[in-house]
Amino acid sequence: MLNIGVMVSGSGTNLQAILDRIDDGTLKKCRVVTVVGSKSGIYALERAEKKGIPTAVIKRKDYPGIDDYDKALIEHMKKYDVKLVVLAGFLSLLGEGFVKAYENAIMNIHPSLIPAFCGKGYYGIIPHRKALEYGVKITGATVHFVESDYDSGPIILQKALEVLPDDTPETLQKRVMEQAEHIILPEAIRLFSEGKLSVEGRKVIIKE
Ligand code: GAR
Repeated sequence: MLNIGVMVSGSGTNLQAILDRIDDGTLKKCRVVTVVGSKSGIYALERAEKKGIPTAVIKRKDYPGIDDYDKALIEHMKKYDVKLVVLAGFLSLLGEGFVKAYENAIMNIHPSLIPAFCGKGYYGIIPHRKALEYGVKITGATVHFVESDYDSGPIILQKALEVLPDDTPETLQKRVMEQAEHIILPEAIRLFSEGKLSVEGRKVIIKE
């Protein structure tokens, strides 16, 4: 079994997509052993609690420096013997210590086709607002391995969707979540859990 630690900051629809694929047997080699929130009171933590998954809130601002924050995160993940960390709508920046401890074993989902509409300040609905302002005809979602910078690191999977003439940031966000994010994140986790991913420089090789 692959022990997964999921990190969240919001409503947790991506966490739900993972839990649903575990329940329906698609992710048969996986279990979510802990869910870590960057703040309390978020719906993602409620979703985990409903499933009986141990949760924790580990806030960046409770630690004097990034190294101490990283240490707390590493300690927590080791306690649950986590082998893959999934950032499912997690909006704090991780330090180098944590990224090194889980090299090529932290995945992030981002709501755009990286390298478009990503980086510091691009989270949640903002990439969709910017995509519409720019006038792109295609957008989508990306799952990538995490390096210690926003939305960087080797790309595992991407899924593109058409932008429709009457899209608003909200309609686009909903479609990207339902038709891209909630599909490619569990799929990337499945590939990882079956040992089908390897990283060569910036490239992720998928052996199906
Ligand atoms: C998702 O759209 C995810 O891609 C995005 O936050 C949302 C969280 O929704 N992540 C980022 O923007 C990271 N840069 P969720 O809590 O319902 O999964």
